[in-house]
Amino acid sequence: MSSLSQKRIIVGVTGGIAAYKSPDLVRRLRDAGATVRVVMTANAEQFITPLTLQAVSDHSVHRSNLLDADAESAMSHIQLARWADAVLIAPATADFIARMAHGLADDLLSTLCLATEARVAVAPSMNQRMWQHAATRENVAVLAKRGVSVFGPASGSQACGETGPGRMPEPTELVESLSALFGSQALGGVKVLVTAGPTQEAIDPVRNITNRSSGKMGYAVARAAAEAGADVVLVSGPTHVPYPEKVRVIPVISALHMHQAVMTEVANTDIFIGVAAVADYRPAEFHQQKIKKTNDQLTIKLVKNPDILTAVAKSVKPPFTVGFAAETENLEAHAREKLMRKGIDMIAANRVGDADVGLESDENELLILDRMDTKRLPRSSKRQLARNLIEEIATRYCAKSTSKNIRRAHR
Ligand code: C5P
Repeated sequence: MSSLSQKRIIVGVTGGIAAYKSPDLVRRLRDAGATVRVVMTANAEQFITPLTLQAVSDHSVHRSNLLDADAESAMSHIQLARWADAVLIAPATADFIARMAHGLADDLLSTLCLATEARVAVAPSMNQRMWQHAATRENVAVLAKRGVSVFGPASGSQACGETGPGRMPEPTELVESLSALFGSQALGGVKVLVTAGPTQEAIDPVRNITNRSSGKMGYAVARAAAEAGADVVLVSGPTHVPYPEKVRVIPVISALHMHQAVMTEVANTDIFIGVAAVADYRPAEFHQQKIKKTNDQLTIKLVKNPDILTAVAKSVKPPFTVGFAAETENLEAHAREKLMRKGIDMIAANRVGDADVGLESDENELLILDRMDTKRLPRSSKRQLARNLIEEIATRYCAKSTSKNIRRAHR
């Protein structure tokens, strides 16, 4: 099965001569099993008609005007941004690449690129001198650093009569590149349970103890697992992150809630990934009424919460179990000690306490440890890092299941 099967792809068409190849691209993406919606810039319409792209995509084309009430009521730009599994801009002109690099959002396509959580790829198409210009080189480098994939450009004779790099790759090659971006569906049919976010431990009806976890990393992990083909359940503490598409979310508040939800689901789980920052302690008693500030000092007695990760690793038929370790010092040593003590298969460790990585930030870096080895996943967006982590988990999970099966066959 193609990794594009049942994927929802937005093809963005900007105003370059290679737009004549876009209908063929749309047709080939649909042949590979994808559902395609097309978004055109105003300049693209100078090269190719919306009617052509409507016919090949079998959907009305989304045109550049952001303020079109009819189009917005049919599917708003935010709904469209959430709908997509990937956005492929082909052709991407030098101008559009520059606008993306600067985060402009003055038409539908540029706004989508900012609003979407999906993978974004560009297929540059321009005159070879424009491609080689320092401004374009820098803009492309900025996009690549942000995790945008750059397909091509190919080299050869150009519409303007010159020869060199700047041709949009052929539609068949673009389909292959996009397909590779979705990976091998390494977790096709695998059941994955993820915890995310903080927990809130109530003191009285208006106060609680919590922590600074945003939930972004856990949500990114759940989404990356779904992209790799897994059936994903996400048990989430209170966060402000929008629910990922194609993931069943079970919202919880406290560590005890989270423990209960996880233990109910775990028998039906192949891989458990505990990303949540579960509160280690909760108030021993819950005050039914708001505590009054009568005394100078107030002591709240705390009792330990169950360790969900350890409970999962010790369950009757434990899934492949992955934990997270947020540490302010001695990252590797503390993480390895945690891996052994909790009896889990793998741990992803990150430094916290620095302002620009970790808990609330959009970027992170991870050290991943299993029983044999340590590997560094370099700093990148939480979305990209989550995809890399899921690949690492899939490799180890498959190796473990294969060796289990071989042992069983020899019995
Ligand atoms: O022991 P520590 O809290 O540092 O371990 C972090 C890892 O353990 C995370 O994967 C977290 O989700 C998990 N954890 C848990 N239940 C707890 C505390 C932590 O599952 N009560």
